[in-house]
Amino acid sequence: MKIGIIGAGQVGSLTAMRVLQEAIGEVVLVDIIKGLAQARALDLEDQAGLLKQDYQIKGTEQIEEIQGSDILVITAGLTRKPGMKREDLLTKNAEILKEICLRIRTLAAEAIVIVVTNPLDIMTYYALKITGFSPNRVFGMGVSLDASRFINLISKELNISVADIDTYVLGSHGEGMLPLGRLTTIRGISLEEFLDEGKIERLVKRTIERGKEIVDLLGNGSAYLAPSLAITNLVKAIAKNEKRIIGVSAYLDGEYGLRDICIGVPCRIGRSGIEDIIELDLQPQEKQALLSSALSLREQLNNLKQCHG
Ligand code: LAC
Repeated sequence: MKIGIIGAGQVGSLTAMRVLQEAIGEVVLVDIIKGLAQARALDLEDQAGLLKQDYQIKGTEQIEEIQGSDILVITAGLTRKPGMKREDLLTKNAEILKEICLRIRTLAAEAIVIVVTNPLDIMTYYALKITGFSPNRVFGMGVSLDASRFINLISKELNISVADIDTYVLGSHGEGMLPLGRLTTIRGISLEEFLDEGKIERLVKRTIERGKEIVDLLGNGSAYLAPSLAITNLVKAIAKNEKRIIGVSAYLDGEYGLRDICIGVPCRIGRSGIEDIIELDLQPQEKQALLSSALSLREQLNNLKQCHG
């Protein structure tokens, strides 16, 4: 397996490290900043001796090196500063993504592409359109991270292991995120048996704001430890054909009553990327919330169309 990671910032380099340590395949790390990807690759090579594990990593400024990749992860782009929403990154990151996707189209025409650049769902849609790849091969990492955040907060609240908590988060990886309290279970028992509505609402709100909480504390940059693990889980599910159900920003064509949009939904992930979109039986108010999330994404897509055609 050849895994190309475009963007050697915190998220990209930590993903490279995790992918190598999981022995998923060889990694090519690319960044346009002179020396950055090479430096990170050397640093990662240097830990091989400590791990007693042979692996292959190359750092480069040349995107041509992704040629023939099986899986590509796009993390390139600006990150939020305190006071910014993910949506504020739209125009600048679209420019960066466009250039990358045009190259991917010819250099790695068979690759499965995982988009991580924010605003996630918009960038995923844009990458899908520019590469022209089929929708099962282009999707975004967002809601699986959000689900892990929700699980963590529930675990802390109830003093129950994260291992026994299951949840679904749908919608955009942004303010339209929908952590589904109703479909959250603890060893099969509904979360609603453990917590009242008000408490669940507070945890939902904290989950939605978790990225911002971290951005505000860091002052310069956004989360990368948990995000890189969420990406690695997707890379592994593809490379090892795991058939795992993982939430991703997927292109919908009628599922959930939505069309021509990328938004977070649970999918079965295997060697061909998205192998199935799982349609949960939503209650009317959940459907309504998903629709509002989609409508706000539609608005941003229209803004992007005005700027970039
Ligand atoms: C976050 C960024 C990765 O949610 O969007 O922290």
